[in-house]
Amino acid sequence: MHKKIFDLFCGLPRGGPGNEGSTIRALRIINDLVCSPKVLDAGCGVGASTLVLSRNLDCQLTAIDIFEKVIEILNEKIINRGLETRVKALVHDMGDSGGLGKKFDLIWSEGAVYNLGFENGLKTFAGALNPRGYIAVTELTLLEDNAPDAVKNFMSRYYPAATTIEGNLEIIRKCGLSEEGHFVLPESAWIDDYFTPMAEAVNRFRAENEAGEKDPELEKELAELEEEIDFYHKYSRYYGYVFYVMRKM
Ligand SMILES: C[S@@+](CC[C@H](N)C(=O)[O-])C[C@H]1O[C@@H](n2cnc3c(N)ncnc32)[C@H](O)[C@@H]1O
Repeated sequence: MHKKIFDLFCGLPRGGPGNEGSTIRALRIINDLVCSPKVLDAGCGVGASTLVLSRNLDCQLTAIDIFEKVIEILNEKIINRGLETRVKALVHDMGDSGGLGKKFDLIWSEGAVYNLGFENGLKTFAGALNPRGYIAVTELTLLEDNAPDAVKNFMSRYYPAATTIEGNLEIIRKCGLSEEGHFVLPESAWIDDYFTPMAEAVNRFRAENEAGEKDPELEKELAELEEEIDFYHKYSRYYGYVFYVMRKM
């Protein structure tokens, strides 16, 4: 990834599709959480879900991400909101979620579990959970069986492991977890909360690039982001993000 594209992502309000309403809807599925739960937000990015969780749960929250820059940004938000005693943001690999020195009652991960692979990620999270703890993740999911070739090619290029809701529910069962509920994120969580700020940032970065010494590699990656947005507008009925909420049995 071009360094400037990384900067572009760091400046977005969130690192993938999602919104506050969906985070709260998933939280409402969880109806039997212990008092003052220990919560992990894995692959937190700049903390979009971390801050919603901190407002809606009386909890001790640990947020981890592999990239130092996003943790720096989240730490500023934590300090500005006076959340330092309840929320800790750390550079840490979520593949080592069990290595944080404690077990969690809830592990949250929006748009990030795919980095470990859905099944491997759920098994990793389950290993870091207390008995009867919960996991809530969003995962890119095929919403229709009869997707056109363009969508099949897109998926095999960017996320070959993507499967249907039923396929993911099967993986959840295989991991020894019970499914507590799931729902498809609304299109607004892609368009309003993710793509609109991304498109604005693409325009800004392009204007800067054209004003200076033009970098063709940067322009190519900016154009790819626009293609991703156009592709979603065209084919959103065939794929989306699904929130899966599950519990360790
Ligand atoms: C699509 S972004 C989602 C960020 C955030 N959850 C959100 O919804 O805004 C995926 C995040 O996973 C992080 N990530 C990727 N691999 C990781 C790993 N092994 N451990 C921790 N974080 C990781 C990336 O740095 C990135 O911030």
